[in-house]
Amino acid sequence: MVKETDSLREAVLRALKGVVGTYGIAVIDAQRPGEIVVARNGSPIVLGLGEKEMFAASDVAALIRYTRQVVHLEDGELAVIKADGFNTFTSDARETAKEPFTVDWDAGHYDNGGYEHYLLKEISEQPDTVARTLRGRIDDRFHIAHLGGLNMDARETRSFRRVKIIGCGSAYYSGQMGAQLIEELARIPADAEPASEFRYRSPVVEPDTLYVAISQSGETYDTLAAVQELKRKGGRVLGIVNTVGSAIARETDGGIYLHAGPEVSVASTKAFTSTAVAFALLALHLGRVRDLSPADGRRICEGLRRLPEQIKEILTLEDRIKELAKKYADSPGMMFVGRVRGYPVAREGAQKLKEISYVHAEAYPASELKHGPLALISPELPTVAIVPDDELLDKNLTTLGEIRARHGRILMVGHRTSEAADDCIVVPKNEVELDPILLTIPLQLFAYHAAVALERDVDRPRNLAKSVTVE
Ligand code: F6R
Repeated sequence: MVKETDSLREAVLRALKGVVGTYGIAVIDAQRPGEIVVARNGSPIVLGLGEKEMFAASDVAALIRYTRQVVHLEDGELAVIKADGFNTFTSDARETAKEPFTVDWDAGHYDNGGYEHYLLKEISEQPDTVARTLRGRIDDRFHIAHLGGLNMDARETRSFRRVKIIGCGSAYYSGQMGAQLIEELARIPADAEPASEFRYRSPVVEPDTLYVAISQSGETYDTLAAVQELKRKGGRVLGIVNTVGSAIARETDGGIYLHAGPEVSVASTKAFTSTAVAFALLALHLGRVRDLSPADGRRICEGLRRLPEQIKEILTLEDRIKELAKKYADSPGMMFVGRVRGYPVAREGAQKLKEISYVHAEAYPASELKHGPLALISPELPTVAIVPDDELLDKNLTTLGEIRARHGRILMVGHRTSEAADDCIVVPKNEVELDPILLTIPLQLFAYHAAVALERDVDRPRNLAKSVTVE
């Protein structure tokens, strides 16, 4: 029971004893407007420290126009804030000590830079954001990656026998790309799983498995809960995170920051590519303490360095991609197919299209088409086929033939044109392992222009939130 004599702090502490579930709340007493009590359990609360003013928000993005000095509350923590300061304490009223830290994003990151939508701005920023993810992390002497944030020495890095990657939505698809990079370059069995499923299935946590959690926001509740479950069972968890100081970054044992700058548009683009690049660095790192040769290490380092320029080249295809997006946007649905390296590209392409244009989009591994979904193929359901020039090229071209034979229209995204397709988008070639990163970019532009053609709310698609901080 809350008593009338309680201070606001005591009243909130007392009331929270009866609260179950996740929350991030701010409470104010109309009689004493000079203080606010905030409390966090599961959902983020960030304090902003100003000049004789204090702020509370659920995301650093909301604070950045006023201050860059922030303090993150932990789960179960509360704070009393007044204009001249704050103090924090636990749910059993023990004071806690918090060090503010300075956010290195500024308000400039949050304007649209003259672009019509944040999404297009963020797609266009990718030559820079990928360069930032790479900066200072490639060693040309030993052809290795410098990833000091992993907090692991060579012996420990060698000790893992499996890699398990978790994330949600696009983060999960970038994790699938990461798993392939790790298997190919480091020859360690690796797979990715949606964190939202992983956390509910009482996962078996193995001591010789390296767990990697991915999150742009660092606040996705399902991913955070999966990390907490892993930690509780003694798992070693790294984070690949964009937002410095976020809950997942704090909860993990080490990791890689993306340095992609804030992502404002709800649909993830630059964080996706930077995550895939971070995985390439991690795979190089894991590979070079194992059997990846210096020559292959060098090949990957050189390939990584070429990415920013090649992304610039792909961005020059925008007008052509816009035409194609208009041509296909009024289809009732689209199929996306890719084989092995192309499959996560297809999944992410379908994800982008469905979430911002609301066109039904389904991704399938190319080889699975004949096991069922081929029945859907008709002139009304065009296919976007991811066809890299790799050892599976012939197989992929055969799939195009199968679709064609069912009168399906095909938009091929790859490194060459083909008569088997109705339309082609040709992107520059990199190393086979890194090509999926580049193949993703035209699909972002395709989804963007399809959404614009259909007059959708591109940056704030219906029913979606930027940070999913609820279960
Ligand atoms: C898709 C998208 C979502 C997020 C997912 C995870 O464009 O934005 O699928 O990728 O909600 O978010 P983070 O990476 O913040 O954990």
